[in-house]
Amino acid sequence: MGPFTGLIKEEQSSILVVNNFKSNLKAMEDVFFKEGLRVYTASGSGDAIETFKQHLPDLAILDVTVPGADGFELCLKLKDISGKRFFPVILLSALADQKSRIKGLESGADDFISKPFDNSELILKIKSLLKVKALQEELDDSESIILTLIVTMEARDPYTKGHSTRVSKLSADFVSFLGINQKNQEEMKKAGILHDIGKICLSASLLCKPGALTEEEADVIKRHVVLGEEICQPLFSMRKILPAIRHHHERWDGKGYPDRLGEKDIPLMARVLSIVDSFDAMVSVRPYRDHKSAHGTLETMNSERDKGQWDPELLGYFLEMMGSPADNTYSLYG
Ligand SMILES: [Fe+2]
Repeated sequence: MGPFTGLIKEEQSSILVVNNFKSNLKAMEDVFFKEGLRVYTASGSGDAIETFKQHLPDLAILDVTVPGADGFELCLKLKDISGKRFFPVILLSALADQKSRIKGLESGADDFISKPFDNSELILKIKSLLKVKALQEELDDSESIILTLIVTMEARDPYTKGHSTRVSKLSADFVSFLGINQKNQEEMKKAGILHDIGKICLSASLLCKPGALTEEEADVIKRHVVLGEEICQPLFSMRKILPAIRHHHERWDGKGYPDRLGEKDIPLMARVLSIVDSFDAMVSVRPYRDHKSAHGTLETMNSERDKGQWDPELLGYFLEMMGSPADNTYSLYG
């Protein structure tokens, strides 16, 4: 036994068991308790929702024949209340037919078990879903730490406050306008929020320096793209956005950094970021530049369309999207 044994109570996983027979509930409670799980029980839909809201269990086992609502309906409700948080549900059913399995899948159930069931099979299923949930939460934790870093970073420089959030939203709207699927829109949103994360490694006085930078200072600032890539590299959930972070300052004419990539060698997400990042920086008030209206900025970008900074075709689509006064995005900068 180590010196700290017993000082920190290991957190128990908890499960919610919903069944309309008290004797079944008791039997299941005993089995799960022996497995080291904390068990909450409910015999009807209303009870189950109350218990869920009060204790936020890690998983639920629902009998499909729950009074007040069937198990499918209850499953839908619990998933809905959980929102984006992963909440695994196992449905218990005497109906092993295809139809009820499809109905279960439609209600978002993560697994099924047919009655009469073998306890050890159910326990294995519970443990594997709890493991998935724990991994998911670890991932969420890493992401929220990084998002906190972004807020900290932006707080150091009042002129960039909200920049990452605006770039994230506008980039996601832009790729949606381009017809890119929902999954990639989510990746784009992430890349937008994190594109400048590497700046956290740079000194605040350099980032806020008014006036022109020396060549050495500009070189230090340019390192933020590689530093950002390094910060996000260890995270599996960030793997798809690494190229966008690294290449968001490349130029269409190959004169950008860090790798002097040109044209379509620059990943699409990075080409999108380059346009949206420039637009937001030009519209926002900077220490060395006066506020420009969104409209004036779009006109400037249009006049510089073929000067080699941005993908001209992509910029055309961006101007088209921003040009519509009915567009919600446009009102962000109104
Ligand atoms: Fe940047």
